[in-house]
Parts: sequence; structure tokens; C-alpha cells
Amino acid sequence: MEFNRKHLLGLEGFSREEIIHILDTANSFKEVLSRPIPKVPTLRGKTIVNLFFEASTRTRISFELAQKRLSADTVNFATSTSSVKKGETLRDTARNIEAMKIDMVVIRHGAAGAPLFLTQCVDASIINAGDGQHEHPTQGLLDLMTLRDKFGDLQGKKVVIVGDIAHSRVARSNIYGLQALGAQVGLCGPSTFMPYQAEHWGTEIFHSIEEAIEWSDVLNVLRIQLERQEKGLFPSTREYRRFFGVTRERLEHAKRDITILHPGPINRGVEIESELADSEFSLILDQVTNGVAVRMAALYLFSGLNKETTDA
Ligand code: CP
Repeated sequence: MEFNRKHLLGLEGFSREEIIHILDTANSFKEVLSRPIPKVPTLRGKTIVNLFFEASTRTRISFELAQKRLSADTVNFATSTSSVKKGETLRDTARNIEAMKIDMVVIRHGAAGAPLFLTQCVDASIINAGDGQHEHPTQGLLDLMTLRDKFGDLQGKKVVIVGDIAHSRVARSNIYGLQALGAQVGLCGPSTFMPYQAEHWGTEIFHSIEEAIEWSDVLNVLRIQLERQEKGLFPSTREYRRFFGVTRERLEHAKRDITILHPGPINRGVEIESELADSEFSLILDQVTNGVAVRMAALYLFSGLNKETTDA
């Protein structure tokens, strides 16, 4: 298909065909990753800078690995060792980096909209690696890839996102992506964790984890994002675990074949029982493996190499 987006800012507005095209491209790159020499020259000559203004383990390593597997030249930026510490703005940081002739920017930032802002400052393609409470599109894509590996077509599959939905960029990207592929989406958590006007998102809403488990084929479990919350949204992690924790006992009681996803980092023993995260129900490490292939696909498709590009 013709794929003429320049930036990957979020999955909102992506069609089923576009998402399938990215996932099919990721499947081709997954085959590359299984070769004895897991490397292709696809992005040779392209220079990519990774701007991470927030902590990351999976996304950052995964993007770096994807860039190396595609033979791109990469530069890594960490806030702690940059001139941001001396008061430099995001715009100036980006324009100075672009003056060194870069082609793509991968950015993680605590402020929703920072990647969109960058598209107005520089000519490079911008890939959002997570912006505040807005979106985390490559996480959404790797979750979709993992579910397609297991189920094939996601039409009609029931996926419940459990936890701190209101503060979660992962939840937003999952909702847009899953709905584009025809899945039914549920949200489960205390009402203080539900986004504003959640009832208008076309999702089921559950305030009982038992009811959510009864309804679902998949639980995508999120951690409580204390760093983004104002105080007082829930009494204690102990109480949260008691009412909303995903446990083996709860899954077995439902007597259904449930698949568990978690974007990480996991707070073991809070949102999910530690043993369950490593159990036969869990595809958590498959998600991480698929992350590299999805990011290779995103870097390739948004690099402008395969077509004429227009602004997203
Ligand atoms: N899922 C995710 O974004 O993990 P990191 O914060 O470790 O990148």
C-alpha cells in the first residue's frame, strides 16, 4: 500500500490498512532478527538521534537495537548530560541537533505534545517514543503484533486495559489501535483512574476486576503511574491490589483462557501477582521481542525511503 506519513506521533486516526501494513512490515523484520547475522542495510546513510527526556529501559534499548539492525548511524541524548541542564529549550536543542544533519528524531518527553511541537521546529521525521499522558504508538503497535501472533485477526476479540488508564499513554495508543483492528476494548479500574468522559471512547467500563476477567480474552495490565498522579486517587497500593490486582486465583476462578500483556515496568505484587507475570498466561517477554521488529518497521516506513512523504 501507499504509505505517505512523515511522522509517527500517535495511532489516533490511523486506518486499519495502515496499521496492518506496519505490522506486516514488522513481521518481515522479525524474520531478519532470526537470521544468524540479524542486520540489513536498509537505513545505511541515515542518521537518527534518540532524545530521551524521561527514563526508559525497553523503549530506548529497543529503538537503539532496531537502528543498529537497520545499519543507521545513531546518536543518543540524555537530559542529565546535556545543555538542557543549563536551561536550553527543546526547540533550541532540536534545531542544534538538526544543524548536524540528522534525518530522524526519536523522542520521549514528559510533556504531551512535545513530538508534535518538534515537527514544527525541524524538518526531520519525528517518532514519538512516549509523550506524557498522550500516546506511546510503538508500544501500541507491539501489543497489537503480539496479539496478532497469538490470535491472527483481532476482529471481535475482547481486550480489557486494567489500571491507571487516565495517566496512561499506553492505554490511549492501545485503544486507537485495537479499535482500528476491530477489537472490543474494555477499561477496568477505580473511577478515579478513568479518563475524563471515558464513556464516550466506545469502550466497556468495568469497576470490578472479576467482571472484567469474565468478559475478556486479554488483559493488558498497567502499573499505577505515581509520577503523573496528583495525591489521593486511591487509598493504598495494598487496597488497590486487593480490589484490582490480577492474580492467578482470579483468572482460574473465571475458568477462561486469558492472555496477559503488560507494557512494563511491572510493579510486582501490586497490579499483577509476581508469579503470574512469568506464567503460561503471560506474553510479556514476547511483547519486548516484538518491540524491536515494530521499531524497525516504524523507522523504515517513516524514514521517507519507500516513498514521497507528506506531513502527517
Ligand atoms: N513500555 C515502556 O515504555 O517501557 P520503558 O519505560 O522501560 O521504555
